[in-house]
Amino acid sequence: MSHTDTPTCTSHTTASTNAPTVTPATAPARPVTAAGRKHPRERQLATSALVVGTGGSGLRAAIELREQGIDVLAVGKRPRSDAHTTLAAGGINAALGTMDPEDSWEQHAADTLTESYGLADPRTVEIVTRGAARGIEDLARFGMEFAREEDGRISQRFFGAHTWRRTSFAGDYTGLEIQRTLVARAEALGVDFLEHVCITKVLVNDDGAVFGAYGFHELTGERRLIHADAVVLACGGHNRIWRRTSSRRNENTGDSFRLAHEAGARIRDAELVQFHPSGILEPEADAGTLVSEAARGEGGILRNALGERYMQRYDPERMELSTRDRVALAGYTEIKEGRGTPNGGVWLDVSHLPREQIMERLPRVYQTLMELQMLDITAEPVEVAPTAHYSMGGVWVRPEDHSTDVPGLFAIGEAASGLHGANRLGGNSLIELLVYGRLTGQAAAEVCRTAEVQQRSHAAVEAARAEVSGLLESEGGENVRALQRALRDLMTEHCGVVRSEAGLQRGLTELAVLEERARNVTVHPDQAGYQDLAHAFDLRASLLAARATLECALERRETRGCHNRSDFPRTDPGMRVNLVWSGPGRIEREAIAEAHPDIAALMREVDQDGKLVE
Ligand code: FUM
Repeated sequence: MSHTDTPTCTSHTTASTNAPTVTPATAPARPVTAAGRKHPRERQLATSALVVGTGGSGLRAAIELREQGIDVLAVGKRPRSDAHTTLAAGGINAALGTMDPEDSWEQHAADTLTESYGLADPRTVEIVTRGAARGIEDLARFGMEFAREEDGRISQRFFGAHTWRRTSFAGDYTGLEIQRTLVARAEALGVDFLEHVCITKVLVNDDGAVFGAYGFHELTGERRLIHADAVVLACGGHNRIWRRTSSRRNENTGDSFRLAHEAGARIRDAELVQFHPSGILEPEADAGTLVSEAARGEGGILRNALGERYMQRYDPERMELSTRDRVALAGYTEIKEGRGTPNGGVWLDVSHLPREQIMERLPRVYQTLMELQMLDITAEPVEVAPTAHYSMGGVWVRPEDHSTDVPGLFAIGEAASGLHGANRLGGNSLIELLVYGRLTGQAAAEVCRTAEVQQRSHAAVEAARAEVSGLLESEGGENVRALQRALRDLMTEHCGVVRSEAGLQRGLTELAVLEERARNVTVHPDQAGYQDLAHAFDLRASLLAARATLECALERRETRGCHNRSDFPRTDPGMRVNLVWSGPGRIEREAIAEAHPDIAALMREVDQDGKLVE
C-alpha cells in the first residue's frame, strides 16, 4: 500500500490503534506564495510507528516493528534503494571467531572501549558486541550473501585496531548488500514507504510527547501531516557540513540534530566527528569519496610525497591498520608539514597486491577510481586525504532501547550517540544498525501497543505548517546553496582535524553571520520540484549542527581521539565526560559509567602522548 494516494483527515484526540487510519476530512485552504503560486495541498495520514530515514537502521527498526505486528511507515528523502548505508563499504563486525577462534564478544567490547578513548558508554558497547553475532545471523536469515571461505565459514578480515579478524563483508559492497537485504525483507513484511519526503518537524503535544511529524514531498511540494504513536529518528549524522566528506550531496546534513533538538531532545558529543584517512581529492565535486579501509585491511600502504611509509613515525606497530584518528592525523600532519603531494594529499597504494585479490576484495574501490579518475589501482597509487566521515556523537539516548528525553521519540544509527566515543572502530556502525534496529523496534512497538490515546496539538501542527509556508513566501534574497557552501568552508577552516580556541571562536563569529543571513533565504521551487525548499531545511539543520559542534569543540579543552586541540595537546583525565548540548550556550558534562571488570581486564593502554605532532 502506498500512503501517497490516501485522503486527508483531521482530528484532535483519538484512540490509538495499530492499524493505519486514514479518515477523509476537509483539506486546509491553500495559501498563496508571494510569487502568486498556490501552496501545494496537504495530505494527512496515520500510522502506529513512523521511522524517519530508510537506511540500514531505519529499515531494521521497521522490520522489527512489523514482526511485532505493528504498522509502520518508513519515510526517506531518497529512494530506499539508495540510502546512505549503500555507501558503507568495508564490513560489519562481530566476534564470530570464524577466522580467529580466540576472539570473543568481550574482546570486541574491550577494543571498542579502548579505542573510544574512554568516551563510549560501556553499557551500549556491551549490548552491541554481545548482540553482534545475532545481528549477523539476522542478516544471513534475511538472505544476505556474505563472503565465505571454501568450507562455508563466513570470511572475516582485519580492520584497523581490532585485536582479531572480525569484520565480515561482501566484497567492498557490504553496505549495499545490507541495504538490499533489509529492503527486501521490509517489503516482504509489508512495511509502508514514502520516498522523496522531507520531514521538517517532529510533532510534540502539550505534555511534551510525540504524536507524529510534518513534512513535504520533494517533487510535488505536497505537504504530509503524519500522526503516529512513536517516531524513530534514523536520519543520519552531520558530516556533510564539512567541505570534503564521504557523504553525497544532501545527505548527513544534521537533520536528526535539528528534528530531535526542536522536539526537546538533547545532543551528545557533537564535536566527536570521525575523519576517515582516505578520501579522494578529485574531481572536486566528488572530493572526499571514500577509498575503503578495506584497502588497508587487504595490505594497502600509505606513503608521502617523498616515498616514505610515514605510519612508521606514528604507530610503528600497527602501521596502516592503526586507529582511524591516528591514521587521519598522520596524513593531515604529513600534508601540513610539506611532505604531501602538490594537490595536498598522500599516496595509498595497493598496486603490489595480486590483481585477483583487488578485483575480488576491492571491486568498488577499483570501479570508483576508474569512473572518477580513469585510474587503475592495480597499477597506480591513489591520492587521498582525510575526509569527514562519521558523527560519533548524536542524539542523547538511553543505552537499553535508544529512547530519548521525549516520550515516544527514539534515535538510532548515526543519528544516535553512545557506542563510539572519541574514535569509532571501522565496521562497528553497521553492526550497531542491526543490534539497535531490533531493540529500538521492540521498544517503539511497546509504546504503540500500550498507548491509550494520542494527544495531539493543533498549535504544533499550525507552527509546522507556518514554518514551511514562511520559507516559501520569504523574499529575503539569500541563496541556500551559497550559504551551505559558506558553512562547509567555515567548518573546514575552523573545526577540521586539528582545532584551536582562536579558530573555534572565529568559527562561531562567522556562524552567527550565516545564521542571520539564513533568516532571509528565498527558495525557488520550479517545475522540477521542491528540492530547493528541502535544501533550506537541510541548511537550518546544518547550522544547528555546526553550532552544537563548535560550542562542544570549544568546551573540550584537550586532545582525545578524533578531537585534536593544538592549544591543549594532552588528554585531560578530568574531561573523561560526555558533553551534552541542549541549545546555544547550554552544555552539561555527563559522567561515564565504568566498564565491567572482566572487560576492563582485556583493554589495552592507549598512549596519547606525542600524538599531536603539529
Ligand atoms: O572504510 C570503510 O570501509 C568504512 C567503514 C566504516 O566506516 O565502518
